[in-house]
Amino acid sequence: STCFTLLDRMQFWHEQSHRYHTELQDFKKLTAETMAGLRSEHGTLSKDLEGAAAQVDRVEREMDYVEIQTSPRACANKADRVVDSHFNSVKYSRLYVDCVEIISGIRSVKILKRVGSPKGTWTRDPRSSKVYIFNGTSGDIIYQFNSVLDFSRSPGVTGSRQIRLPFDWRGAGSAVYNDYLYYIKQEDEIDLQVVKYDLLGGSVTDVAMFPVESRATVYSLNPETVADLAVDGEGLWLLYATSDSEPNINLAKMDPDTLDIEQIWDTGCPRENAEASFVVCGTVYVVYNTRLASRSRVQCVFDVNDVVISEEAPLLYFPRRYGAHASLKYNPEETQLYGWDDGYQIVYRLTMKRKLLV
Ligand SMILES: *[C@@H]1O[C@H](CO)[C@@H](O)[C@H](O)[C@H]1NC(C)=O
Repeated sequence: STCFTLLDRMQFWHEQSHRYHTELQDFKKLTAETMAGLRSEHGTLSKDLEGAAAQVDRVEREMDYVEIQTSPRACANKADRVVDSHFNSVKYSRLYVDCVEIISGIRSVKILKRVGSPKGTWTRDPRSSKVYIFNGTSGDIIYQFNSVLDFSRSPGVTGSRQIRLPFDWRGAGSAVYNDYLYYIKQEDEIDLQVVKYDLLGGSVTDVAMFPVESRATVYSLNPETVADLAVDGEGLWLLYATSDSEPNINLAKMDPDTLDIEQIWDTGCPRENAEASFVVCGTVYVVYNTRLASRSRVQCVFDVNDVVISEEAPLLYFPRRYGAHASLKYNPEETQLYGWDDGYQIVYRLTMKRKLLV
């Protein structure tokens, strides 16, 4: 009987184990089904999300497209360019042969600090590495830091050297090169002056008159910038508007020593919807945006040597940020841009490629 009981028990265990096994199988099946359901739901959700992202992307692209279509035509053809016949452009073609770089992309963006008003300018002297802060769009005070690091570490503008200038600067068009500050002064409506200020000596060394026909600003999205000075390692450039009826941005090459104007071009790039611009190797890159700030982009390129054509320099989008650029200053030593965006000081690193020399 003991044996019987044992067999009986074994039978019982067997049945039990079989039942557990079946239950486990059922449970597994159930879980598998639930998992599959979840997976498919997740898949649908993912697909929905992807769809939504793609839609947002498409709408964004469409908006960009519409903006491009509705903005005044960027990059007029070469025949539209008016070159001042008093000057000889051959000289410059030779001058820029060594400078063979063209921007191919924006590699990275670094938000360094937030100081001052929504609009302003900051720049780094390519020679001395000193950093200069122009808070707002006019004033007679500028702040000088010994380095970008000093600026980023200091609370606000404490720790800077405060420089008081003899004349107010106007707009976000100032440039610093080799311890000289070049800035725009405008006392009455018409006369535009470029002032050269010795930052070490603390005195004005030159003032050049720049006759314009009527009050006009160079970038429609930053009307405070009556004219914009740019340094590109080749020298000093002035971007300006001759009159309100002239739709394009004009470019003048200036002698950084004497402030003499050496040559003048019509860039063919419209002032309308322009936000800022900068010059690299004798090529002007004009940055456009919309009144309700969206994505800044280089949408018009003008090369004084006619080497860089707009097809070679495609639309270049800036990474999405807060507002719009009040200024963009190029540093030729570091191939980066110093941008002021809604009170944020930003550095954009650029990637370069060689110009296709013809
Ligand atoms: C910048 O200018 C604004 C407006 O004038 C002023 O309120 C602010 O204190 C200034 N900031 C610095 C750091 O100078």
